[in-house]
Amino acid sequence: MRIIVYQNYQLLSKKAAQIIASQIILKPNSILGLATGSTPIGTYKNLIKMYEEGLIDFSKVTTFNLDEYYQLPIDNNQSYHFFMNDNLFNHININKENIHIPNGMAKDIDNECLNYDKIIDNSGGIDIQLLGIGNNAHIGFNEPTINFNKKTHIVTLDESTRKANARFFSSLEEVPTKAITMGTGSIFKSKKILLLASGKNKAKAIYNTVYGEVTPEVPSSILQFHQDVILILDTEAASLLKDKDYEVLNEISKVR
Ligand code: GLP
Repeated sequence: MRIIVYQNYQLLSKKAAQIIASQIILKPNSILGLATGSTPIGTYKNLIKMYEEGLIDFSKVTTFNLDEYYQLPIDNNQSYHFFMNDNLFNHININKENIHIPNGMAKDIDNECLNYDKIIDNSGGIDIQLLGIGNNAHIGFNEPTINFNKKTHIVTLDESTRKANARFFSSLEEVPTKAITMGTGSIFKSKKILLLASGKNKAKAIYNTVYGEVTPEVPSSILQFHQDVILILDTEAASLLKDKDYEVLNEISKVR
């Protein structure tokens, strides 16, 4: 596990975008695993800027999103379909046919889950998976539980997750109680994983991710076993880590 800490969210976002951009430059038909939540928004802004400057081309890129709310219409402005179009896809030259987001409105939801993993496998697998992290250390929508879920599945959201995400809805009641998410196993199969965390409220989850016991009660802890994980943090999210475990990059020049 490699840990890089930046002084602030702006630098963290720039670095994450640069890593994704280099993946696309090295392999134009890369398979990207994408995340929602507020944390990756800065990364997406930087990617859009790089696209506008002609530095990256998304025309051959394929994407798979981690998750989607269950039974929330995709045109609802809180759906992850809406989020991805608004924050990234509408602003780059990605081929819409290459975009994959779990369909929380599918009639046959079991088949939707099975199929999602199949399509990922058939694509050759995810080259780089972008992750945020929940305050309770969830990744995608894999909530703390008694076993690691291997595959894409339906999950009942923790009350703490619904409360955390209520800030995007007009009331807590409107936050869906369920979601469809790639399993920890589906995420773990990614060749490279980039986990972003910003802010004090993520510090405990990050501490447990790095030092804690590997347990499904801390879903992100499984990343300790992955061979290519980079945590990109700001100083607040890293505040409980021991200094020797990471380098703080203060100067923007150091990331250029
Ligand atoms: C949601 C998403 C996660 C995301 C988490 C953290 O629950 N399903 O993928 O990591 O929120 O969100 P934020 O970045 O807004 O803290």
